[in-house]
Amino acid sequence: MNDAPINAPACDIDFYSSATIADPAAAYASMLSLGPVVWLNSNNLYAVCGHAELVSSLRNHEVFRSGKGVSIDDSVNKMLIGSTLNSDPPQHDATRKITFNPLSPKQIRYVRDQINSQAQQLADEMVSKKQFDAAAELAPHLPLTIVRDLVGLGDYGKDNMLSWGAATFELMGDPGERRTTAINNLKNLRRFLEDPATLDNLSADGWARRATRLGIESGMEPARAAELMRDYIAPSLDTTISAIGFGMMLFASHPEQWAKLRDNRELMKNAIEEIVRLNTPIRAFTRYVSQDTQVADTHFEKDSRVLMVFGAANRDARKFPNPDAFDIERKTIGHVGFGQGVHACLGMNLARLEMDCLFNALADRVERFELTGPVVPGVNSTIYSLASVPVVAITS
Ligand code: HEM
Repeated sequence: MNDAPINAPACDIDFYSSATIADPAAAYASMLSLGPVVWLNSNNLYAVCGHAELVSSLRNHEVFRSGKGVSIDDSVNKMLIGSTLNSDPPQHDATRKITFNPLSPKQIRYVRDQINSQAQQLADEMVSKKQFDAAAELAPHLPLTIVRDLVGLGDYGKDNMLSWGAATFELMGDPGERRTTAINNLKNLRRFLEDPATLDNLSADGWARRATRLGIESGMEPARAAELMRDYIAPSLDTTISAIGFGMMLFASHPEQWAKLRDNRELMKNAIEEIVRLNTPIRAFTRYVSQDTQVADTHFEKDSRVLMVFGAANRDARKFPNPDAFDIERKTIGHVGFGQGVHACLGMNLARLEMDCLFNALADRVERFELTGPVVPGVNSTIYSLASVPVVAITS
C-alpha cells in the first residue's frame, strides 16, 4: 500500500509487540522524539503522533477517511464498514444521530441515579472487603451491570458483549497469535446481528431496540438497522473498564492526588480527563488517505493507510508540559483520549458519568489506597488496560 519512498523518520518500535502493548508510554516517547510523524518499520505504516498534527488530521475527515474502515487490516475492515465508527458523512451523521440520542448530555441525566446507586453499593462492598483487585473486581462492575442492561441485547447478546468488544478492538490492530480467536468472535457477532430472531429478543426499553426501531422507521432494511447496535456493543465496555482500572492504579500510586480530590470534588471532572489523557484506552486507529496530502514534513499518498496514535498525542510535551506526570489539576483541554472531529466518542458522557459516580463513592469512604502487589497489564492490540491492580482500602 505505502509504496512511495519513506519520507518520515524511521522508528524501530513494533507498535503491536507484547512489550509495547504492556507499556506503550516508552514507545510513545521514542516515536515523539523522532518527530510528529514517523514511519514504523515493523508495521509498515506511517504514524501520526504529534498532538497538533493528529488533531488537524482527525478534523480533516474528507482527506483522512473512516469509511474504508479504521483497522490496519483491510480484510477486517470489510467486516466492519458501515458502522458509525467505520463510515464517513453523510452516512455517518445519519447513523450517529440515531445512536447518540440516549447518550446525549440531556438524556444521560436520566440514568445518573441508577448508576450512582450501583456505584454506592459497589463501593460499600469493596470497602468491607478491604483488599480487592481494582482492575478485575471493581473496574468491570458498572459497565457489566448497568451498561449491559441499558443496551439490552437479551441474554445471549449480554453474555457475549464483552468478548465481541474485545475481539473488535483486537482486530483494529495486529493481534498476532490471538487473531483466530478474535476472528471467530467477530464472526459470531456478525451472525448475531444477521439473525432475524435477534430483533425479537432485544429488551423492550433498551437502547439497541430503540436504535433498530428508529433505523427501520428511517427506511433501513431490518438487517441494516440491526447493525446500529454495533455502536453500543464494540466500544462501550473495555474502554471504560480500562479507564477505571487506570484511575485506581494512579490514585493508589499517587496518594497526594487522591487526597487533593477528596478535599475538592470540583476537581473530579478534570481528574477523569487526566486519567483518560495519561493512559489513553484506545491507543490508535487508522485512517484511509483519500488524496495526496502532507502532514508536517511527510507526504502521504492517495490510497495509503495511516495510524492515528491517540495515546502518543496525549503525551506530546508541546501540548502537555511534563506529559508523563499524573496531575489532576493540569490543563487537560484538547486531549484526544475521546477522539476529535466528527468521530469524537459517542459514549463519552456515559463513560464520564460512570467514573464520576464510582470515584465519588470511593472518595466518600476511603482515605487512601495502597498497592499490595504487582500491577499486571492486559493484552489487546488496541485497548491499553490493566488486568490486575491489587489494593487495600485504608479508611480513617
Ligand atoms: C473511557 C471510555 C471511552 C474512551 C476512552 C473512548 C474513546 C473513543 C475514541 C478515541 C473514539 C474516536 C475514534 C476515531 O476517531 O476513530 C471513540 C469513538 C466512539 N465511541 Fe468511544 N470511548 C469510550 C467510551 C465509549 C462508550 C461507553 C461508548 C458507547 C456507549 C462509546 C462509543 C463510541 C462510538 C460509537 C464511537 C464512534 C463515533 C463516531 O464515529 O462518530 N465509547 N471513542
